[in-house]
Order: sequence, then structure tokens, then C-alpha cells
Amino acid sequence: MTSPSRFAGKTVVITGASRGIGAAIARRFAEEGAAVLVSANEARVEEVAAEIRGKGGRAAAFVGDVTDKESVAALYDTAEQHFGRVDVSVQNAGVITIARIEDLTETEWDKIMDVNTKGVFLCCQEAIRRMRKHGEGGRLINTASGQARQGFIFTPHYAASKFGVVGVTQSLAKEVAKEGITVNAFCPGIIETDMWAYNDTAWGKLLGNYKPGELMAEWVRNIPMARAGTGEDVAGLVAFLASSDAAYITGQTINVDGGLIMS
Ligand SMILES: NC(=O)c1ccc[n+]([C@@H]2O[C@H](COP(=O)([O-])OP(=O)(O)OC[C@H]3O[C@@H](n4cnc5c(N)ncnc54)[C@H](O)[C@@H]3O)[C@@H](O)[C@H]2O)c1
Repeated sequence: MTSPSRFAGKTVVITGASRGIGAAIARRFAEEGAAVLVSANEARVEEVAAEIRGKGGRAAAFVGDVTDKESVAALYDTAEQHFGRVDVSVQNAGVITIARIEDLTETEWDKIMDVNTKGVFLCCQEAIRRMRKHGEGGRLINTASGQARQGFIFTPHYAASKFGVVGVTQSLAKEVAKEGITVNAFCPGIIETDMWAYNDTAWGKLLGNYKPGELMAEWVRNIPMARAGTGEDVAGLVAFLASSDAAYITGQTINVDGGLIMS
């Protein structure tokens, strides 16, 4: 049984927390005693904070853009203003598009790289600065993807952005290891969220005449555990990586995908 106060006294910043995986991670940390600063580029993130506060948790929201350096600095300022310090930062904001190579635009390429890779870099940079202020170490946890292990069809830009997350993770892990800051990444497989609903439709259209839900059902049949993942499945791994049990783990990229990819 996990202690309900495993993260008491800790402040956790989570980006991409208005819904899906990020919201599930925020709820999990709050349930285990952390103060959470939930952030996203949509006002809906305020509802996640309100829901957590309604259940007796400590939460504040910040609406901002992870591709904008000033907005990212303001996010961490807000975390410190509300809760005094930053101990854990989960870089989870992400976007995807799916297109044949002849239709994939430069604008799409730039946007995916900006949010998924530069956004992780900017947040890690700012979080490290805040962790160095209190000098008690910290945890950086970056959202990669099964597409950081192998590219899927019609998503070269997304795969590149997520392979990039692994590179950022390993490089930073080496730079800050002696300061007690660990840096790890995780690779969700097929997780039932708004993003996957888009994937099901967009990939389904390009791969054949799939009706909504059919492609996902087909891919889920290929998962050894034969079910899609949930935000809670992912949150369990993230909470472990942020806990004292993971103190000697850094620079790692861990799959959370029901066995879909075994490398
Ligand atoms: N759902 C899956 O199957 C799956 C699989 C592998 C990896 N992932 C990754 O997990 C993460 C979360 O995915 P999800 O399925 O919950 O997606 P989602 O689309 O449900 O949520 C994405 C979140 O990112 C935020 N966001 C997008 N652009 C932003 C920006 N510029 N600045 C700040 N916030 C921004 C959105 O507001 C939202 O909160 C993403 O990084 C995604 O690439 C998801």
C-alpha cells in the first residue's frame, strides 16, 4: 500500500494537465499529499485544480504555452508563489498530427518539435533553476512515447520529437546527477485520451476504411495485456519515478504500454 502522504511537503508542476494523462498524474500526486501546479494552454486546466481542491487537495492552475520561454518562467514563478518551491516537474504537454509525407507541412513539423521537444527543454531548464535555489535535489519526468522507441507510419515529425525527448533526458541526467536531481522519461503506449481519439480517426482514415474505434480495437488486440492503458496506469509509474524508491534511477526511459513494445 502506498502512503497517502508519500509526497507531503513536495510541490509538483505538471504540464499538459487539463485532461488525459496529465490530469491523471496531477490527481495521483494530490491524492498522495503533494501540492500540484497544473498547467496547460487551455482554461479547462482551472477545472482540474478546482476538482482537486474540492477533494481536499492542494492545487493551483496556470494557463500558458510551453513553447514560450517567458510563459514557462511565469509557470514556475506561480508554483513558487503558491507553494514556496518546486520539487518535481513533469513535462507532459504534447501534440500530434498524422499525415502522409507529401502532405506533411513545415509548419506542422515546427509545431510538433516546438511543443514536444523544445517545450520539454524549456520546462526542464526552468525547473532545474528552481531546484538549484533550494539545493535539495528534485525529479524531472518527461513524457516520451512508444514513438520514442520506433517510428510509426505517417508521424515522422512526432517520432523525431519524442526521440528528441529521450536525448534531452539522458543529457540532462548526466549534467545534474551530482546535484541529487534525477531525470527520467516514460513511453506511454495506447492510452485512452482525447489524443488517442484523434489518432484513431486520423490513422484510420489513412490506413483504410476504419470506422471510429475499429483501428484502436485492432491495435489493442496486439497489446500482450489486450487492453488500452489509462491515465492512472501512467500516473502510477510517474509517482514511482518521483518517489524516494526511485532515488538511484536516472537517465532512463521506461515503457508503460501493457507490453506493446519490449525494448
Ligand atoms: N494518449 C496516448 O496514447 C499517448 C501515447 C504516447 C504518448 N503520449 C503523450 O502523452 C502526453 C499527454 O497526452 P494525452 O493523450 O493526455 O493528450 P491530450 O491531447 O489529451 O492532452 C494534451 C495536453 O497538452 C496540452 N498542450 C498542448 N499544447 C500545449 C502547449 N503548446 N502548451 C501547453 N500545453 C499544451 C493540452 O492543453 C492538454 O492539456 C503527450 O506528450 C503525448 O504526446 C500519449
